[in-house]
Amino acid sequence: ETKRLNVDMNVDNGKSYAQAVDLLNNGEVVAFPTETVYGLGAVATDEAAVKKIFAAKGRPSDNPLIVHIGTFEELENYVDHISQKAKLCMEAFWPGPLTMIFKAKPNVLATSVTANLDTVGIRMPNHAVALHLLRQLGKPVAAPSANRSGKPSPTEGIHVEEDLNGSIPMILDGGTTGIGVESTVLDLTLDTPVILRPGGVTKEMLEVVIGPVSQPSHTEQNSGQAPKAPGMKYTHYAPNAPVYLIEKEEKTIANALETLHEKGLKVALLAPENLSHLEADWFFTFGQKDTNEEMAVNLYHALRSCNATTADLVLATTTSTEGVGAAIMNRLEKSAGGKWYSADIQL
Ligand code: TXA
Ligand code: MG
Repeated sequence: ETKRLNVDMNVDNGKSYAQAVDLLNNGEVVAFPTETVYGLGAVATDEAAVKKIFAAKGRPSDNPLIVHIGTFEELENYVDHISQKAKLCMEAFWPGPLTMIFKAKPNVLATSVTANLDTVGIRMPNHAVALHLLRQLGKPVAAPSANRSGKPSPTEGIHVEEDLNGSIPMILDGGTTGIGVESTVLDLTLDTPVILRPGGVTKEMLEVVIGPVSQPSHTEQNSGQAPKAPGMKYTHYAPNAPVYLIEKEEKTIANALETLHEKGLKVALLAPENLSHLEADWFFTFGQKDTNEEMAVNLYHALRSCNATTADLVLATTTSTEGVGAAIMNRLEKSAGGKWYSADIQL
């Protein structure tokens, strides 16, 4: 049985944090909210504890974990060198949804945290629950998203329960997370920093602070040899039914629904609220205002909701790659395995 403790209300929740800290100190894993998605944490210097994360998630062991810290001073314990650009990024974006890749100090963190790479990804989350937990614990916490590997990341405590009930001892439930997609992963070990995973801190925001940053397109990331962020090569963010991308255009979607219904297929439509009147069998909203920020917040909830339907396929509308749109389109393309709707699709 997994305990899910509410920590988002103005009640005395000191006991909940104390229990979470005890579990972590005793080599257990605990799920907790961040401003991006829920994380599944373990003390990052405890090899046996970190292994439990991989086991609970069913995560491949060659995919390294992000280390979360609660104070700036801790950083130098885990990394060899903090460049000027890294310092500028810390000042501008921490606490916040930016993970920076540094050369790791050898033999400090558990080897499965870095999956035997000589680098480590570190971030300071901007969420009251996460920060409180980290500061009470006073140790670095390795935490991937708290979903079963391959599923959409959890943006609510309930999502963690859906995926991991019975396989972890505790979820600190802080309600719905803020941004809704994972942190930006920025490799600062190169002369020109590279965005390995787009996220809450956008290329535009980074360039204001540190100058040119490269953001390989999705196709570039998938071509060639081993991807630099090992996690990006796996199937990700996918509900059970196949996902197809479609242009956010009323007529296009109406035609698609008609064609699919003629084939006897049941369709879940994921789209902005203004398209909710279309004749889909299920509709899950990307939001009222149809902004990228709102779509990021709703994306994983909508993808996850499809699993409670008997839809044969999911149609998901696309958006611009401006701002957090780059992260949204990165996750949507992965969730669809790159497939776009066309009238002759064969399931
Ligand atoms: O917002 C987030 O980043 C959330 C919350 C919980 O903090 N965490 C998260 O972790 O998304 P995860 O494990 O689902 O994704 C971590 C990504 C993976 O794509 C992984 O390959 C990459 O970061 N990564 C981690 N360490 C790396 C390293 N040393 N070099 C390159 N990529 C790394
Ligand atoms: Mg993940």
